[in-house]
Amino acid sequence: MKPIQVGLLGIGTVGSGTFKVLQRNQEEIKRRAGRGIEITMVADLDQARARAAVGEGVQVVNDARAVIANPDIDIVIELIGGYGVAKQLVLEAIAAGKHVVTANKALLAVHGTEIFAAAHARGVMVAFEAAVAGGIPIIKALREGLTANSIQWIAGIINGTTNFILSEMRDKGLDFGTVLKEAQRLGYAEADPTFDIEGVDAAHKVTLMSAIAFGIPVQFDKAHVEGITKLAAQDIKYAEQLGYRIKLLGITKRKAQGIELRVHPTLVPAKRLLANVEGAMNAVVVNGDAVGTTLYYGKGAGGEPTASAVIADLVDITRLHTADAAHRVPHLAFHPDAMSDLQVLPMAEVVTSYYLRLRVADEAGVLAQVTGLLATAGISIDAVLQREADEVGGEGSTQTDLIILTHDTREGTLDDALAQLQALPTVLAPIVRIRKEELS
Ligand code: HSE
Repeated sequence: MKPIQVGLLGIGTVGSGTFKVLQRNQEEIKRRAGRGIEITMVADLDQARARAAVGEGVQVVNDARAVIANPDIDIVIELIGGYGVAKQLVLEAIAAGKHVVTANKALLAVHGTEIFAAAHARGVMVAFEAAVAGGIPIIKALREGLTANSIQWIAGIINGTTNFILSEMRDKGLDFGTVLKEAQRLGYAEADPTFDIEGVDAAHKVTLMSAIAFGIPVQFDKAHVEGITKLAAQDIKYAEQLGYRIKLLGITKRKAQGIELRVHPTLVPAKRLLANVEGAMNAVVVNGDAVGTTLYYGKGAGGEPTASAVIADLVDITRLHTADAAHRVPHLAFHPDAMSDLQVLPMAEVVTSYYLRLRVADEAGVLAQVTGLLATAGISIDAVLQREADEVGGEGSTQTDLIILTHDTREGTLDDALAQLQALPTVLAPIVRIRKEELS
């Protein structure tokens, strides 16, 4: 049988990696897919770059629409990124009856409902293993491997840039700005790292995982998104003294009232495997009612690791494209007419525990005042750490840091209590609040 023909839109690091791995492992991939898979056409505005990546024998064009219009192309790989032209091209490829493979988490997290509906109506597949956690086959695991389970929760380190920065901050005791500059110099962080450091990239990814785990539509606009830019080295140090590490986690949980969907810096017990994922690595923990807790670890970015996921999708499509559409794995794991209407909960309804740091006047009665106010609000304290004033503010200091770990509390209740604490004259600076997850 003649090889299935693939057109590639955008050939940067991942595109080149995909071409290279497909060539290198073509015999084995063919034995698995039952048919050869060949990239025969590439579109890139930088044609010289494209030609250098694929050599002779592959058609290189600068117009992505020429790839979509080519009747010989069966699958289009979209590696352009963003919500703009990429969305238009993906919808056009679907309308032209092409299957689509994409690594574009932003596009699917924001416009997934429209894109999957269009693909369903046209009877084509949109595959996106590479969109979440790079080379880790987490979409496959959630959608197929764990299909027996009622998934309870997912917590993941799904942004390598921020995990690298947090690891360096902890290791070297440096502040965020210094480490960010170093990460950019080493090529770990992009020149414009906003999506990474503000938690947006992780929120795109956890939005997709949440939809697949719980059978809800993709709803990026309902996700709580908080990055690491305000994190102080001091809090990383205090957390460590209390037996925790701070990680930027994407978290989604099934609760009786709805779904929690959030990204924020999180204290994780230092003894958990997730707390020990260092540098630019990714890891995702999934808890299912039957299987218990499972962990997936690997490279979340990079040419060949991401190509590994792209090619897995190509193989899946090659195996399934002649199958009746009803017999394929649904895009979001659940059949489109069997989606859940569980709502994403507002943050005020989220229940978790907290790390609080209060800069207070080092005076008699302050600790009692703070703990008394928390007790009145019904917030139970798990641990308290008070630093010596000299250590915090230098010799003769009259201020100190009070660190409190709470038990599980409704976020809305904590917000009210924090507003009251902040108003106390003995609380001298904005209170730091970091959420904590035991992940047990
Ligand atoms: N920028 C992402 C990261 C990789 O740092 O993990 C692509 O999603």
